[in-house]
Amino acid sequence: LWLRYSYINDSEIRENYSQYFNKINISGESETLVVIKNELLRASKGMFNKKVLWENDHLKAKLIIVNKENYPKQLEKNVPQDWASIGEEGFSIKYVKINDNYKIIIAGNSEIGLLYGTFELLKQMQMQNDLSRLNIIESPKTDIRLLNHWDNLDRTVERGYAGFSIWNWHKLPEYIDPRYEDYARANASIGINGTVLTNVNANALVLEPRYIEKVKALADVFRPYGIKVYLTARFSAPIEIGGLETADPLDENVKNWWATKTAEIYKEIPDFGGFLVKANSEGQPGPQNYGRNHADGANMLADAVAPFGGVIMWRAFVYSEHDPTDRAKQAYSEFVPYDGQFRDNVIIQVKNGAIDFQPREPFHPMFGAMPKTPLMMEFQITQEYLGFSTHMVFLPKLYEEVLKADTYREGEGSTVAKVIDGSLHNKSITGMAGVSNVGTDINWTGHPFAQANWYGYGRLAWNPYLSAEEIAEEWLKLTFSTNPNFLDTMIPMLMESREAVVNYMTPLGLHHLMATGHHYGPGPWVNDLSRPEWNPTYYHKADKEGIGFNRSETGTNAVSQYEETVAKNFNEPATTPEKLLLWFHHLSWDYKMKDGNILWDALALKYQEGVNQVKKMISTWEQMKPYIDEERFKEVKMLLSIQLKEAKWWRDASLSYFQEFSGKPIPNGVPKPG
Ligand code: GCU
Repeated sequence: LWLRYSYINDSEIRENYSQYFNKINISGESETLVVIKNELLRASKGMFNKKVLWENDHLKAKLIIVNKENYPKQLEKNVPQDWASIGEEGFSIKYVKINDNYKIIIAGNSEIGLLYGTFELLKQMQMQNDLSRLNIIESPKTDIRLLNHWDNLDRTVERGYAGFSIWNWHKLPEYIDPRYEDYARANASIGINGTVLTNVNANALVLEPRYIEKVKALADVFRPYGIKVYLTARFSAPIEIGGLETADPLDENVKNWWATKTAEIYKEIPDFGGFLVKANSEGQPGPQNYGRNHADGANMLADAVAPFGGVIMWRAFVYSEHDPTDRAKQAYSEFVPYDGQFRDNVIIQVKNGAIDFQPREPFHPMFGAMPKTPLMMEFQITQEYLGFSTHMVFLPKLYEEVLKADTYREGEGSTVAKVIDGSLHNKSITGMAGVSNVGTDINWTGHPFAQANWYGYGRLAWNPYLSAEEIAEEWLKLTFSTNPNFLDTMIPMLMESREAVVNYMTPLGLHHLMATGHHYGPGPWVNDLSRPEWNPTYYHKADKEGIGFNRSETGTNAVSQYEETVAKNFNEPATTPEKLLLWFHHLSWDYKMKDGNILWDALALKYQEGVNQVKKMISTWEQMKPYIDEERFKEVKMLLSIQLKEAKWWRDASLSYFQEFSGKPIPNGVPKPG
């Protein structure tokens, strides 16, 4: 991954850095301190091929790692002056001169802060930055920074494209796969502090004692890395494994069952994080089965975990066949009326857009619309709708677009990032979840570049204001090379890769056109699925007159779920960004675009642009050969050739299908399909 610690060939830099490893002062024997020491040993071996020397006397040390309790007086000026401001997980790194000696000091309130600080220093070295400029104070902007594993107990992974689940339930709790530790290192290095081990389409069995002991074993491995474990809770578990007749959240027996079950888990795992719940969505059981609402369900579970400090992450991804007009409106309608009615330890987990992890969606209208309820972001890292682990798509660009979007809920500048870090409405708990793309594949994520999406997600969960470009630069330096020629070429390539996939799959606001079930490849013609909102035709609504979903006032009026200024813009084609045009409007094939092209031509040209972008990615990659090892060079090259083939497939299939409605010729510059 990005923790390669490659040997530093430049002897001057190597000597400079390695002197700090000659005299490291760190005191204590806790599990986290052992983790820190091991990481330093590993990094020193890799970057300098040298052992680490420990120094008991901090006055003689070159690298000093101290916390609030044990820093010596002489360092008073070089540790945070306001320890409280960096929080439990924050840290500072300073390059200082004391008695004519240069030193680096890492300080933090907690050992986890020190671990984060250590990873940051190692990152600075791997990026070959000038250490004499180090003056970093960092703390995470969100509290809960999670991976969500959609992993089943049989080790299949829902929407997983990197092999099987890394959780080896069969061999746990005795057998601890070394990968668990590497997984924890990778996560801690980017600040991820929790993991939901199981699929949102939950299996109640994981709550049985025989699984709880396995979960405990994982929790024990992850604890020194600052990572808590969470589980998904199947709402009907009291019936399925508890022998009750109901799972009604207002039933006393049900409440007691969950309270007892929760106590059982906390007895084994005292820092268990809590539950993630998918209820009344896609056939999952929930409170509505008993005529209750989401608040009833979430609050009942919240009461069970509250005595132990746990949280309930209640998902807002709900839709049903009973509202056939516009699936995009359902979550807002079901949740916003309950604002203020959830317990303090409930956080509503909302996908970035109102449909489902499409290559592009407008931000979810719930962001900013529930001032009294904490809302956390759910991004998808695994590429369910974006070419699995075959297509190269740098997702931080997508995440950034959503986080920067302006909800206008408290006037201009009320960005989604401010909802997520809690600053817009002063929230007590904040968080972000990323649906993991990790599996047993040798490179963890299937596509070597899909690692960047795990990395970038973690960085944004820590700081939702980072730019995708900074993240691209960091990741490329850590994972491949710090050579400026390489970076100058590859950063733009990553930045463009997300737009490429939008262009060749779903340009101009089109969405949900993927083939049935697996969601790989085009299927805009599919129209015979049992639920209307599963059919791509429900979303593009192409006919002789035109194409697109009318969500304006004259259509489903989904625009009204946004704040007035935003709603007004989305309500009119002229003020809707063209990249979202067909999300909000059904327009004639002859509709004039800003550049003067008619809609049909613009659509066809966008598909072609996507293909051209992939071609460019291939030629760029060819030029990168000198900077990359043979193995990864070849692997990515082969994957890119599939991506090009499939970009053309998307273009040709989509255009030949839509042409049946438009009846218009394919414009110049775009090959005729078939
Ligand atoms: C998508 C995905 C499902 C998943 C669901 C969810 O619909 O296709 O596999 O279960 O999202 O987020 O709950």
